[in-house]
Amino acid sequence: MSDRKFTVAVVGATGAVGTEMIRVLEKRKFPVGTLRAFATSNSAGTTVQFNGVPVTVEDVATTDFKGIDIALFAGGEIASGTYAPRARDAGAVVIDNSSTFRMDPEVPLVVPEVNPHDLKKHKGLIANPNCSTIQMVVALKPLHDKVGIDRVVVSTYQSVSGTGKAAMDELLEQAKAYVSDQKPSNKVYPHRILFNCLPQIGPFRDDGYSEEESKMILEPRKIMGDPNLKITATTVRVPVLVGHSEAVNVTTREKLSAKDARDLLRQAPGVEVVDEPGQSKYPMPIHAAGEDSVFVGRIREDVSQERGLEMWIVSDNLRKGAALNAVQIAEKLVEMQLV
Ligand SMILES: NC(=O)c1ccc[n+]([C@@H]2O[C@H](COP(=O)([O-])OP(=O)(O)OC[C@H]3O[C@@H](n4cnc5c(N)ncnc54)[C@H](OP(=O)(O)O)[C@@H]3O)[C@@H](O)[C@H]2O)c1
Repeated sequence: MSDRKFTVAVVGATGAVGTEMIRVLEKRKFPVGTLRAFATSNSAGTTVQFNGVPVTVEDVATTDFKGIDIALFAGGEIASGTYAPRARDAGAVVIDNSSTFRMDPEVPLVVPEVNPHDLKKHKGLIANPNCSTIQMVVALKPLHDKVGIDRVVVSTYQSVSGTGKAAMDELLEQAKAYVSDQKPSNKVYPHRILFNCLPQIGPFRDDGYSEEESKMILEPRKIMGDPNLKITATTVRVPVLVGHSEAVNVTTREKLSAKDARDLLRQAPGVEVVDEPGQSKYPMPIHAAGEDSVFVGRIREDVSQERGLEMWIVSDNLRKGAALNAVQIAEKLVEMQLV
């Protein structure tokens, strides 16, 4: 890397992902010259800390984005749809966490361990994939490269932080109400999340799949460059604060033993294998939260088919599922001199 320092904007700097983005920029010592923090007018004037220095949050609606080199967007669909094109037109390279541009053929959808080469095609806007998609493709990529993947069946167990800060507060409030013998109320989700599982993430489409399920079906094809990859998904919200888990069943094109899959995954970038079931060692959200890796365990051959594998994949949805992946994209852009 050169000595160049960048003016970096975080849009949605007061939210769950935005807060984590600032922590990841600090931790990885990204060459930030100036950090600009943006949110809505509700948070404008408050401060966020960057390397121990307070940064005043600005109202994104009243900025012109001039002088910003890299804009990390984590302000939701409306913020991205409205302001990301403005930031790009003002000269910033935008890395967007929302789903607004992910399936746009003009916009690279990138996981640095899987398809960093797609960054070369960027026209000022890069999309960060869905959190559940990211952790799954990091683990699928080495298997796909080695033996080819024909079909994936995934069921997710997704934490409330995937919905944002308000949902984390709701789960904690419901827990407090429950232990105080009060009736827990719900605003963020259609039902109580405490001691419950909701088989709904996002609205349902006409084909019966939820929007989250549809993202998990479509996004891996674009990231892995394989439009023929067959995927079906059931996505479920569970009362976990941070860390998404996934039970993934894979049908491979050639036979791959569990041992060979384990060996491949041990060498894969971004992956940590935790697979000693006899010692009750397997990935869990309580261990993944606050960590960078995608943890894979319970790797076994599927007894119901010739060429099948079962895996359990866990990662911190705010880190690798969002903030870390976005900052890794920024690092790649710098390394590849694309910013
Ligand atoms: N949570 C995850 O695991 C995850 C993973 C991948 C992608 N994402 C995506 O990342 C984005 C942020 O998610 P989050 O979980 O961090 O949500 P969040 O905790 O609710 O935070 C939302 C942030 O965006 C700001 N904001 C809201 N509306 C805005 C607008 N119209 N213009 C500018 N800023 C606006 C909020 O500012 P105020 O404080 O002013 O309200 C706040 O800073 C979403 O697009 C989400 O889909 C989330």
